[in-house]
Amino acid sequence: MGKFDLGSRFDGAVCLISTVGLLSPDGFSPHLEAAARHLRPGARYLVQQGVFGPEDALWRSEWDAERNGVKLQVVWEAFERDAALLQERSRSRVEIVTGARAGEVVEDLHATTFWTTEAWRQAIAASPFTQVACYDGREDDRPAVDLDRGGGLLWHELVAP
Ligand SMILES: C[S@@+](CC[C@H](N)C(=O)[O-])C[C@H]1O[C@@H](n2cnc3c(N)ncnc32)[C@H](O)[C@@H]1O
Repeated sequence: MGKFDLGSRFDGAVCLISTVGLLSPDGFSPHLEAAARHLRPGARYLVQQGVFGPEDALWRSEWDAERNGVKLQVVWEAFERDAALLQERSRSRVEIVTGARAGEVVEDLHATTFWTTEAWRQAIAASPFTQVACYDGREDDRPAVDLDRGGGLLWHELVAP
């Protein structure tokens, strides 16, 4: 996602669940350039990425998931952050409750970009895109919200030039 050439243009693009947060701030710009090159003028790029206030508390998400008789208990929490360097470390713990692998625990550490609302605004302003809206992905009806409100599952509606 940092550099790609698909040889054609599209009417829209999506990127889910803070995937772009896996890119460093320096890696995000070429991604936006590449995405813009693949979109027709006026096309939308819907990006889901959490953005926060520099002083916001460390986040913690906990949820259960189930599919085909396999139940999971998932905890994902940020445990370290350097807002000035836009860096965050988090850990995920997936406990397999039922199914063939019941009792197993899968733990991972993650190093991601901690996007403050100001840094996000500057990154988009420096890109070919224009951000025209923001939606709260935590709410079922995904209401339009102000970017400055921040949030972990925000959707950003970007318009290609
Ligand atoms: C949050 S997950 C994607 C979730 C998926 N879009 C979904 O909705 O279920 C992020 C994925 O991006 C992959 N990834 C990390 N860096 C990448 C890169 N530079 N280019 C492409 N994929 C990358 C990771 O391996 C991981 O599988």
